[in-house]
Amino acid sequence: MGVGPGDPEFLTLRACRVIETCATILHAGARDDSGFALEIIASRLRIDQTVRGMGLAMRRGADDGTIGYERVARTLLEEAGAGRDVAYLTEGDPMLYGSGSYIAEVLAALAPEATVEVVPGVSSLAAAAARLGWPLAQKDQMLTICPATYHVDEIGAILDRGGMSCWLKAADVLPRLAEELRVRGLYGRAAVVERLGRPEERVFRDLDAALAVDLSYFSLALVR
Ligand SMILES: C[S@@+](CC[C@H](N)C(=O)[O-])C[C@H]1O[C@@H](n2cnc3c(N)ncnc32)[C@H](O)[C@@H]1O
Repeated sequence: MGVGPGDPEFLTLRACRVIETCATILHAGARDDSGFALEIIASRLRIDQTVRGMGLAMRRGADDGTIGYERVARTLLEEAGAGRDVAYLTEGDPMLYGSGSYIAEVLAALAPEATVEVVPGVSSLAAAAARLGWPLAQKDQMLTICPATYHVDEIGAILDRGGMSCWLKAADVLPRLAEELRVRGLYGRAAVVERLGRPEERVFRDLDAALAVDLSYFSLALVR
């Protein structure tokens, strides 16, 4: 289930109904009571609901997440098998680089007979475009969405294609992105948003300011 990028008001009505009806809620956080997606729905939870943090790694590492996804899928099946409605939370939209997309695939393989619903959510890039007032794409414009950490050496080539570009997982590679923008005269055409929709949200319309701080994993850059 997608819970949007951070602002609880970006939860869909469907997501709210699912939260209300589920006995058990799973999320990626390391602890049962903390996690980015959990924070977004926290005020909607009741005392009789069980919340479990599944400890999935966020940043890139040795584990590509596969083991964790199967563990979550099996937990979902165990809960459902015990007669409890259960949901797994994904920030943003589950089908856009979301752990929920893998878990839905694992579930389909493990239990093709199970009833699985994917609830879409507002993605971070849609919310960033709205926050900045920058259209994501218009008319014939191309939009490139790049998980930046995985394509550091392609940043220049992607910028050369033109159009809008959205750089997810950008915190660790922002200096490189900035450099590639500078040599192309695009430095002033980028903005960075961090933890959009949360009380601690930061919006940088100036790359120098973004480069001067330690950005969290929940940051993205838009270039127009
Ligand atoms: C694994 S991807 C998940 C994307 C998510 N499923 C979506 O639809 O937005 C994680 C990346 O999304 C971006 N992101 C997610 N939530 C964000 C937020 N509230 N503010 C800024 N960037 C966010 C960051 O670039 C982060 O590294």
